[in-house]
Amino acid sequence: MEIKILKGDITTTAAEAVVIFHFDQDDKLLQPAAAVNNVTGSIINQVIEAGDFRGEHMENVLLFTQGSAAIKRILLMGLGKRENFTAQTLREAMAQALKTLRDRRQPRAVLPIPLDDEFPLAMGETAEACVLGGMLGLYQFTELLTKERDKIKDFDSLTIISKRKTKPLTSGVDRAKTMAAGICLARDLVTLPSNQATPTFLAKRAKDVAARAGMRFKLIRESEAKKLGMGAFLAVAQGSEEPGLMAVMDYRPSGEESPPVVLVGKGITFDSGGISIKPAKDMDKMKHDMAGSAAVIGAMQTIAALKLPVRVVALIPFTENLPSGKAYKPGDVIRSLSGLNIEVINTDAEGRMILADALTYADRYKPQAIIDLATLTGACIVALGDNVAGLMGNNEELQARLQAAAEESGERVWPLPLWDSYFESMKSEVADLKNVDGRKAGAITAAIFLKQFVPEGVPWAHLDIAGCAWADKGSALVPKGATGMGVHLLTRLLQSWKPLSKDNK
Ligand code: BES
Ligand code: MN
Ligand code: ZN
Repeated sequence: MEIKILKGDITTTAAEAVVIFHFDQDDKLLQPAAAVNNVTGSIINQVIEAGDFRGEHMENVLLFTQGSAAIKRILLMGLGKRENFTAQTLREAMAQALKTLRDRRQPRAVLPIPLDDEFPLAMGETAEACVLGGMLGLYQFTELLTKERDKIKDFDSLTIISKRKTKPLTSGVDRAKTMAAGICLARDLVTLPSNQATPTFLAKRAKDVAARAGMRFKLIRESEAKKLGMGAFLAVAQGSEEPGLMAVMDYRPSGEESPPVVLVGKGITFDSGGISIKPAKDMDKMKHDMAGSAAVIGAMQTIAALKLPVRVVALIPFTENLPSGKAYKPGDVIRSLSGLNIEVINTDAEGRMILADALTYADRYKPQAIIDLATLTGACIVALGDNVAGLMGNNEELQARLQAAAEESGERVWPLPLWDSYFESMKSEVADLKNVDGRKAGAITAAIFLKQFVPEGVPWAHLDIAGCAWADKGSALVPKGATGMGVHLLTRLLQSWKPLSKDNK
């Protein structure tokens, strides 16, 4: 989608379609609506007075102006009640608006921006929310379709127009494009099937992102992982013919060696369960078990593009989890990089194995905080449903910041407790700990396992994105499939990053 910014008057701009917002039961039309209403024989007022449109959130009507103006069509889009309005309302409304037009084969639209004094968001933020919402809603993955490509509907161009200054619009639109690119990159990587998105392929994509942004990059191959002693990661990787790899991306604004925020992403490119094999039903979905890694790659791209003033290091272990003659087995005891011996109870609890070594590895960066993202447990979906990430960790301030970033980004997270008493059931009789307990509190016991590998004294947060990385049902901003969960959240968090207070635990 091409995006143009124009200073001018909506009533004299030729347009195939104009998107007009209206709040539920607002007596007064917003300025762009009033202006369009004036040159179209009061068509908007008539529709509202006739009761055909109120402005409820996501309510919309497409009107034809019958040649009465340079404007051919008006898409009236409801924003709901003013008092309930947030940036997310606008993102969703715009996503719906552009999808409606696209589905009717109307690939071009003009959006007049409401004035600062009549609208709850300033013009720059309004443009940002509209463009981000539009781009996320329009997302589709068509790369692998070869037949009837002419039937694919695209949306071509959005012109944002304002009577007043356009400078804030330009920066708002740029921010939105950057964010959308990161989120859509993550969605693409998650959607790609595991025969294409192999560990090697994804590590290469991470490398490309790093190279384009001038980040440092390094790859830890199996041979080096062996030398380092990353036994937990290698145990999972040994079952697959595809070599396991850990990608390290290092974004250093102005080249400084300051303590970074470390992001860790689970990169299981396919999770069959291994020897503890999963049932066939829905096993195909397990190509998305690298969504944590995709979110981290997407976020690194956005963070660098926005030139955020904080050093961020990404640690991304990639491997498949497969059964084979070489695969790790239930009952095996594995020595992790931390030195702790892990008794494998279930090879399907592979995510925590590879994350354990990545968390230990983070210690060499003396991080100011660590955040990991992982499609870690089905239990988290049982606890919180499809659209919410489980949030656990050892630092309240970091958790509060993630919750605030979730509020702003619309990517929901919710805290689960992580008392050390949960570790009792993870004790093993033959080793330091087991990788699995029974069925109870599965999301929490997975996190308490990870906690054993977090470097001493480092603030850490864990996001279990098993439910929200993949949408079984589409919604306005998230078409069915890969969601890109985490990119927006992490970027928001780091946009306003400042050091955590020392005493907060
Ligand atoms: N990748 C899965 C978790 C998952 C399930 C993600 C559904 C997305 C959707 C993870 O590796 C796994 O298999 N977890 C097990 C843990 C169990 C063996 C303790 C699970 O949740 O069943
Ligand atoms: Mn698994
Ligand atoms: Zn998994």
